[in-house]
Amino acid sequence: MKALPVFEQGNHRWWILYDQDEHRVIDSNVYIMESADNGILFDPGGFEIFPQVFSAMVEVIQPSIIQSAFISHQDPDIASSLPLWNACNSKIKWHMPKLWEGFIRHYGALEADFAGIPDEGGDVLIGDKKLQFVPAHYLHASANFHAYDPAAKVYFSGDVGAALLPPGHDAWLDRRDTSGKAFDAHIQNAKYFHQRWMPSNDAKRDWCQRVSQLDIDFLCPQHGAIYAGDNVQRFLNWFDGLNVGIGISR
Ligand SMILES: [Fe+2]
Ligand SMILES: [Fe+2]
Repeated sequence: MKALPVFEQGNHRWWILYDQDEHRVIDSNVYIMESADNGILFDPGGFEIFPQVFSAMVEVIQPSIIQSAFISHQDPDIASSLPLWNACNSKIKWHMPKLWEGFIRHYGALEADFAGIPDEGGDVLIGDKKLQFVPAHYLHASANFHAYDPAAKVYFSGDVGAALLPPGHDAWLDRRDTSGKAFDAHIQNAKYFHQRWMPSNDAKRDWCQRVSQLDIDFLCPQHGAIYAGDNVQRFLNWFDGLNVGIGISR
């Protein structure tokens, strides 16, 4: 895996760790936000990729600054590394949907410090920056959150925006994509994932409406590549018009 900066302003930074060396398991992105020597991990990943994530992370930050982690939902590609992170640093506070706490405990580390997020969401201070936990229920898990950093205009979107890309993929869609051609090509790798994994058109429309009111420069999914600039609105328009929940309609 490689680490690249997504955003940097003084001591406020975002990083993406991306492109696993092998794709024996689904390719996953991990993000880190740091503010004033305080760091948070976003969807830290599966047990299987922990060594790759950790070694990419130490290229860009001191592991000791990680004081929190965010888990968007309960899936193994998101959270099964929890006991390994907890073994490295038992002071990490784990923010996750309250509804999934008892299930996520099945990954182990019963003594880890869990902070359940209620259905309505909430926020937390990372260093001197406020991070919002945005409800994204049923996208795709029944209790599901995203995270928004209004100062950096970074929106971590979990499985929303996910694309299944081949090894060696870029961290970004082409940011100079004024024609939308790069987006049109990329979104073919995202279409089936959204149609099959996202269960509810109502939940999707509600999310698109709320999120299109936020000021977002970078929409950062847990699989695939970052949507920046015009590609953020392109994605919201595309997702708004997509029919999802196709598992029962065939
Ligand atoms: Fe998932
Ligand atoms: Fe995922």
